[in-house]
Amino acid sequence: KNNRFNPIVSIVSLSSTLNPEYLQVVRKSFHALQEERRERAERSVLISCSPKVSEKKLLKFLSQHGNVSNCFFYQSYGVYAVVEFASKNSIVGLHESTSLPSMHHEVSVPFKSRLLTLKTNGSADQSGGSNSVEFHPQVAMPINELLQQLSAEESVDQQLSRLTSALQLTEENVSLRFLVCSLVKDVAAAFFPKCTVHPFGSSVNGFGKLGCDLDMFLDLDAASGNPKRKPSGFYLEYQMKREASERAVTQSVLSVVAESVEQFSPGCVGIQKILNARCPLVRFSHQPSGFQCDLTANNRVAMKSSELLYVFSSVDERVRGLVLAVRYWARVHGVTSSVAGAWISNFSLTALILFFLQTRGPPILPTVDQLRDLADQSDQCCVEGNDCTIVSDLSRIRLQTNTESLERLLQEFFEFYAAFPFNHMSINLRKGKEQNKPESTPLHIQNPFEATLNVSKNVNAAQLDRFVALCRESAWFLQQEAGSKPATVPTGGSAQAWGLAALFLPSLAQAAGVKGRRKKKREPASERVKSLLQSISTSHSSQ
Ligand code: CTP
Ligand code: MG
Repeated sequence: KNNRFNPIVSIVSLSSTLNPEYLQVVRKSFHALQEERRERAERSVLISCSPKVSEKKLLKFLSQHGNVSNCFFYQSYGVYAVVEFASKNSIVGLHESTSLPSMHHEVSVPFKSRLLTLKTNGSADQSGGSNSVEFHPQVAMPINELLQQLSAEESVDQQLSRLTSALQLTEENVSLRFLVCSLVKDVAAAFFPKCTVHPFGSSVNGFGKLGCDLDMFLDLDAASGNPKRKPSGFYLEYQMKREASERAVTQSVLSVVAESVEQFSPGCVGIQKILNARCPLVRFSHQPSGFQCDLTANNRVAMKSSELLYVFSSVDERVRGLVLAVRYWARVHGVTSSVAGAWISNFSLTALILFFLQTRGPPILPTVDQLRDLADQSDQCCVEGNDCTIVSDLSRIRLQTNTESLERLLQEFFEFYAAFPFNHMSINLRKGKEQNKPESTPLHIQNPFEATLNVSKNVNAAQLDRFVALCRESAWFLQQEAGSKPATVPTGGSAQAWGLAALFLPSLAQAAGVKGRRKKKREPASERVKSLLQSISTSHSSQ
């Protein structure tokens, strides 16, 4: 079970639970995996159904358009089915037989997407009687429930693995993320027929938690590529409009796509254009999936850092366990937040964890330089003058065996950063070594692909102090508490929070002498707008 590589499960069956023989367990390169998921999303549709829908009846009805290779249900605001056909042609047939909605007082915008509603006519009935469908959860369970489950475990190590399985993205959730990207791609493809929309960030880097945002990257490159052969004699060139900068082009493309998503794409609401941020983006909610989406373009380095994190998460299964636990701990104690600001971002926090794992003896993770040295010719990658080459073949990554338990690593992580010389040292993932700080920001984490940039430039001294104080308290707490489940469990009542569960309680922050989540007094509107603008311009910068 404790294999060094975390295999990626690729499901090619109608229902993975029913047909285990179809389960293919393969370790894939990031690109191969993304490409496979993108292609599967292209032949999928999202259907709103009745809560009592029968899977059998639905599949029978849809099979008139071709074989369904995968199908699952979830409940959000209503019940939805994600249906993947074996062939993309089936979608053509399906669209041909789909009706326009009948409206009484309004008129529908005739954009035919792959978001559909299952309707019934006359005597037909969607329900499957007592055979109700299984709903796959798309959000993490509430904290109280999680703490109870953790407290029922027997050891901190078991708590850590329970936490990982409760929080990590499921195969279904990732499929839904790719499907939403594919639906947005359909809108952009009206202008840029060969464009693609890729998820990046925590949706694909191996560290996503159920409910995390969906970062999307609109890639127009496929559409703008030059022919490989150098023309001899005559050749034709496109006439194109010009803009002053790459940034201006990105802004105008995103602006038009945002308009179209707003006007045409069903289910997409609350569209905000945040085009003046360092990395221009369009933010919206995709209601049927419940995802908060951030669409960017021209953000190739971020795509590459997602790949780097994916490689790290695949090297050893303890990596994801530690990252999810520390991220959760940081979130409950307000070290990180869902809004951008002067606090540590999840990306910075992850970098701190990965760095810590590089410094173990023997190391649990390779350095970025080692990943570059293992790369072959086909892995060479340069983005805007930065060498972003890393090995894609995960089987080449071999490390000396390190047998530390996850519990030990968690404890050591807290001790490491409780005592880290942040005031003069910088974190360098390329070398796996700390080095002198090149500038005087409180926290300095060198961007692994853009060496002159600090990933955590936004973090102020107070927020760093908070993190360090909580690390100190948590290290101390685990020393006292480690492995010590209370002997007596109150009968009838819920188990007392202990170990990892107790580490997530607000009392820990109080003991550390730091305030929990502050309920800020409302500032005057002008101040709020100012800080909002500030946080927007620091967020999503690919620093
Ligand atoms: N990113 C970056 N530099 C930053 C912030 C973000 O390069 N200073 C890139 C990283 O590749 C990151 C991605 O943008 O993974 C998405 O950023 P964000 O959504 O903030 O982080 P996630 O890793 O997706 O984590 P979360 O679950 O908080 O969304
Ligand atoms: Mg994200």
